[in-house]
Amino acid sequence: MSEEVKKFKVTIDGQTTEVLPGTSILEAARQIGGKSVPPAMCYYSKLETSGGRCRTCLVEVSKGSEADPRPMPKLVASCRTGVMDGMEVKNLTSEKAQEGRKAVTEFLLVNHPLDCPVCDQAGECHLQDLGYEHGNLETRTEFERNTYDADDIGPYIKLNMNRCILCARCVLAANQLTEKREHGILYRGDHAEISTMLNKALDNDFIGNVIDVCPVGALTDRTARFASRVWFTKPYNATCTCTKCSGKAVLWMKGDEVVRVTARKDQYGEVEDWICNECRFEKKDTALWNIEGPRHIDRHSVISLNHYEKKTDSYNVLDNPEAKEIGVADEKEINKLDSETI
Ligand code: SF4
Ligand code: FES
Repeated sequence: MSEEVKKFKVTIDGQTTEVLPGTSILEAARQIGGKSVPPAMCYYSKLETSGGRCRTCLVEVSKGSEADPRPMPKLVASCRTGVMDGMEVKNLTSEKAQEGRKAVTEFLLVNHPLDCPVCDQAGECHLQDLGYEHGNLETRTEFERNTYDADDIGPYIKLNMNRCILCARCVLAANQLTEKREHGILYRGDHAEISTMLNKALDNDFIGNVIDVCPVGALTDRTARFASRVWFTKPYNATCTCTKCSGKAVLWMKGDEVVRVTARKDQYGEVEDWICNECRFEKKDTALWNIEGPRHIDRHSVISLNHYEKKTDSYNVLDNPEAKEIGVADEKEINKLDSETI
């Protein structure tokens, strides 16, 4: 007879849920859902060993556990910190965590150019969202930014190293999805950069997925660069009879034209099903696809403001019914905090 594993109770911004031991605070927050979920620039649930590199997911642990209720002395990276039974965590409700995130955002922007007006990722960029929520009006740095020339790293992919935040998602994706990784992080510290092996080009069958996992505009699709601002396009769910991948993709259309093909992403911007290069780069003709209907883009970015679909319920902090059942939160208080913070 299998023994039932005792779940841990964890409370995040006053909302309680139960999770299996070994779950990270970030995953527990995602189980609760809503705005108390910390942002994540390097963690990617579908990529093993991701996380722990960017610190955007910092939270305050105000109670360590039932057994040892002392608070944790410093902010912790929620993607790499496991929950304990009785743990209490503050994200939106913690001034310290918000200050910490502000500092991390400033740090990530030290070398990142403010080129959103010409960047293909604008409108669906996690760093742009963070900058909007936590960024300073002016930089405090006086030294020159690191600059690199944009590089074609294969027939389909453009690397703009100036925008890279060294989250390593693309390296992990290449390692875990393709037969042979041909790029990685070279050098150390502020000299570190993404680069291919000498004279190599990224052209493995599933390598196009590095574009989707890149949280910023450092890796872009050469077949769609500068074709349109994302908010002028309309995303549609489409399928095809591909034998290499699931064939489930999103077509970004401008009129009848397929401007770009991407994988489908969930509400945290993570790919649901990886797609192959052929579907992504070579099927720009609607005749090759079975179009299912408009795709709901479940992020609070500019794309969701497009009027290609009817607006559904407004965002609710407590949008997981299970969390409501066990919840100890004062919903009014959280909603008030929420509107003040964002
Ligand atoms: S290129 Fe993109 S995915 Fe790769 S390390 Fe840089 S920011 Fe991360
Ligand atoms: S998402 Fe946790 S450190 Fe990057």
